[in-house]
Parts: sequence; structure tokens; C-alpha cells
Amino acid sequence: MIQNEELFKAIISHSKEYGFIFPSSEIYDGLSAVYDYGQYGVELKNNIKNYWWKAMVQMHENIVGIDSAIFMHPTVWKASGHVDAFSDPLIDNKDSKKRYRADVLLEDHIAKIEEKVNKEVEKAAKRFGESFNEEMFCQTNERVVNYRKQIVDISEKMNNALNINDFEALRQLIVDLEIVCPVSGSRNWTDVRQFNLMFATQMGAAADGASTIYLRPETAQGIFVNYLNVQKTGRVKPPFGIAQIGKAFRNEIVARQFIFRMREFEQMEMQYFVRPGEELDWYEYWKEQRMKWHLAMGIPQEKFRFHVHEKLAHYANAACDIEFAFPFGFKELEGIHSRTDFDLSAHQQYSGKKLQYFDQERNESYVPYVVETSIGVDRMFLAVLSHAYCEEKLDDGTERVVLRIPPMLAPVKAAVLPLVKKDGLPEKAREIMDILKQDYLCQYDEKDAIGRRYRRQDAIGTPYCITIDHQSLTDNCVTIRERDSMQQERIAVENILKIIREKVSAANGANL
Ligand code: GAP
Repeated sequence: MIQNEELFKAIISHSKEYGFIFPSSEIYDGLSAVYDYGQYGVELKNNIKNYWWKAMVQMHENIVGIDSAIFMHPTVWKASGHVDAFSDPLIDNKDSKKRYRADVLLEDHIAKIEEKVNKEVEKAAKRFGESFNEEMFCQTNERVVNYRKQIVDISEKMNNALNINDFEALRQLIVDLEIVCPVSGSRNWTDVRQFNLMFATQMGAAADGASTIYLRPETAQGIFVNYLNVQKTGRVKPPFGIAQIGKAFRNEIVARQFIFRMREFEQMEMQYFVRPGEELDWYEYWKEQRMKWHLAMGIPQEKFRFHVHEKLAHYANAACDIEFAFPFGFKELEGIHSRTDFDLSAHQQYSGKKLQYFDQERNESYVPYVVETSIGVDRMFLAVLSHAYCEEKLDDGTERVVLRIPPMLAPVKAAVLPLVKKDGLPEKAREIMDILKQDYLCQYDEKDAIGRRYRRQDAIGTPYCITIDHQSLTDNCVTIRERDSMQQERIAVENILKIIREKVSAANGANL
């Protein structure tokens, strides 16, 4: 079993080697925290987006989709609060000239203390063997108790400072904890300053009175400003939802962990407009629905957990994340937020347009409340890859790398492989390929020995390999090999499509 850090490195290099993800503009040495999706990456990404769209839009009669522009009127971002408050606290080291997020420096410090706790626990577990009681040990061991107290103390001070934007307190905490710059090793810090995460650009020629506009940092605002358009033209009434998939941009300062935190990424967001007072019931509903969506892929339950937000943003009255066990630990994959009427009310105020619904049953107008589900496509991609990547030792002593991607998301659904390149087998294989490719993305491959061809398909996660041999010419049967079990079965050509459909259909086993 490889260690998690090694596993993460292996996933990154596999992604590149097999055409899933490339660093952006790589021939110019890349662009930090920006990535391109290759020939298999784009297929997996599209399949994730289709699975989401199907679950949200197709399976909910009261949810419709839109596709709003990336550029929006600059006042949108004033109303949403992004101009004033969408920022990170930054600090520079005067010697290395490196810039850091102050909260991340502190979180890294906390992580180091947590590591010390883990080491103590590991040591004790070895010492006590079977009889080791971890909970009891952590409550009584003086060193562990002390470490844990430090963690609580630092977290509290950091959160208090962040909540009231007390940057001097944040800096003081870094100084008091004697945190050093990882590059220069010095403690020569500047003040902490706020840094807005939105990318700005100019629209129109300067002489025409160009105005500053932003690349959207979330897709949600495109939904809010279209609330009235959709409500009037879509014959919908609360509760109803608007879904959207699209690019978002954030000038992340701490951009690391591959595609986990990018500067250009994609979101799948849904805003559910409900009667005021009913939002917390809908919040619970969406928590449950979204978890079901994740589990329906066949990824085990223990890889997911909810993290309920204790401290809420000023516009929310409930919020949680669905976290995933990435190779670098449990981290946010999706957010579910009850955002009250904050956004619609703010847009109503700034635009001067009424963004309300007249509820005939209640004979009253109200600004709908909103429950939002928001997931990053790229983070979901990384979750799927992290779950799927597997280095296996086989019974015959050889090794293989297999991507156990849920079949409905797999980039290529089947590979069609003539056993040899002669005797009419390629022609027969082509006939089968021509049928399958009408419904699914499939690959025809006649190069190299059959074993090597299987390995190539395993490495990109193809659920089925179909081999055509000499006997196929007389009995019209082929051998179908299943990716995970590697079991082979002889089946009639006419049954191939049925078998593939059963395995890769999104509705199959999915509690959508
Ligand atoms: N509209 C709400 C919103 O944008 P968020 O928690 O800031 O909420 C939602 O983002 C999701 O978008 C996250 O759970 C994550 O999956 C994804 N996401 C956010 N920032 C990202 C980044 N820099 N790179 C990749 N994905 C990101």
C-alpha cells in the first residue's frame, strides 16, 4: 500500500502520462494553478457534468438550467458583497519577498502540532499493542493534552481575528508563535493586508470610457440576476430551482494541491428558491439528495462526510460541506448553503427592480429564500481519480495500474480488439466497432500483444474489452473482459450493447 503523499504524486503523473490533465501552456513552463484537460480528461469531465445535469435538471421537474455569461455588470459584484468582502488576508516575508495567506500560515502551524499528536498516538499504539485505547490515551497523556490545548487556543484566536478583520491580531499571532517563512527561514513579516480574489479587466476601449469588470468568481450570481426572467418565462413557482454549469475565476494566493485549488475552474451550482420559513427543511432535503448523488456512483460511504459550519457567513442561516477523503486528507468537495433572501434582496436594492414572487395561495408577495448546492467540477474530477487509482499486484506476479472509475463516468466505455491483425479479424472487429460507437465512445486497437492492450485500457479506466478471435468468424461470439475482476466471458455479438448499457447507464443503481 503506497503512502498518501506518494499516491497523490502517482495520480498527478498518471493524469499527465495518460492524457487526462496537462499543466497549462506547458511548453512555456506552465502557468501556476491553471490546467488543461486532455483527451480522456475532457471525456471524464463531460461525463461528470452530464451526471450532475441529469440528476439536477432532468430528474427534477421543477429545476431548469441556464447558461449565463462570465462577464456581468460590475454592480452585480458590489451587490453580492464580492467587491468589499471577497478577499484573503495576506502577509509578505521581507527577506524572501514571498507572499502567504496569514490564515494558511497559521493552519499549517496547527497541522504540524496535529502531526505531533499523531506521532505520540502511533508510538503508544505500538507500545501497548492490542490493549491500546486511543481515546483514553489522548485524554490522559500530558503531552497530547498540551498539544491539543495549543490547537484549540490558536484556532480560537485565529477565528476571532478573522471574524472581525483584526489584521494586527492576526500578525501578532504569527509573531508570537514564532512562525518562520518556509523559504527564507526568517520572521521578518510585513503587516497583514486584505487582497481581493476577483480578476479584473477592462471592457471597451479606454477612450470610450472603459469600465472595470470582473471575471465571475462564482456562477451563482448569474442565476440570481436571471431569477425574474426564468420565473416569468419558465412557468415555475417556488419551490423551484435554477441550475448552471460554468467557469469561475479566483486569484487564489495559495494555489496548490493540483486541481484542488485552481485559478480558473468550473462550478456546478443550483439555487433553489423557496417560501421564507421553509428554507431549513429544503436545506435538509438537499443535504440528503446531494449525498445520495455522490454515493450512487458506487464510491464507498466512508470516503464522504458532512462538515457543518459552526460560524456562518452573515447571509446564511445554515451551511455545511460535503468533504471527501482526498489523498491529502478530508477536504471540502461541495457546499450546501441556506443563503436566506440575502442575494435577491441585495440585487433588488441595487438594481431597483422588484425580485419577488406573488404567492396566490398566501395572497402575499415575498423575496424567495434560497438554498444553494455548489460543487467544483475539477474537485469532483480529483475525487473520482483519487478513488479510482489503484496499483495492483496480480496472481501471476505482474503488476497493473487500473483506474476503477465508476463505469458511467469512464471516458471510454469499451475497447474493440482483434486478436491478430489478419485473417479477417480486423474487418469483423470494425463491424462491431461501427455498431458500438453510435452509442458510446469506444476505441479500436490492434497494436501489440493482447495483454499490453488490456493494460492500456485498464490505465484509462475502460470498463470493457471486447476481443475478436478466429472462432468469432464462425460463431459470431466474442470474449468480453471486465476491467475490475478481469473476468472473461464468451458472449454473442448481439448482446454486447445490452451488457455495456446495463453497466454504464447512469440510472443503473443511481438513486437519482
Ligand atoms: N456560490 C457558492 C460558492 O461559490 P464556494 O464554497 O466558494 O461557494 C463552491 O465554492 C465549490 O467550488 C467548492 O466546494 C469547490 O468544490 C469549488 N471551488 C471553489 N474554489 C475553487 C478553486 N479555487 N479551485 C477549484 N474548485 C474550487
